[in-house]
Amino acid sequence: VVWQALGPKIGLVNPNIEKNVERVVNTMDIEDIGESISFCRCWRSKKFPLCDGSHNTHNKKTGDNVGPMCLKRNK
Ligand code: FES
Repeated sequence: VVWQALGPKIGLVNPNIEKNVERVVNTMDIEDIGESISFCRCWRSKKFPLCDGSHNTHNKKTGDNVGPMCLKRNK
């Protein structure tokens, strides 16, 4: 598989989430979101597609500046 051989060299965005599928797509019903939710955009979360704070470690290790997409309901 090409991504396994070249991954580190070509700088893949997704290092290891659902590598057995052609395309990672997640869906969620709006009614299930509650008051707020944070979606991972660094692709390092153990709870993907939700943010678990792993972006902090990634940013410290790489000098990157990624963070989650946070949604909240208006009151
Ligand atoms: Fe990926 Fe927070 S864990 S953005």
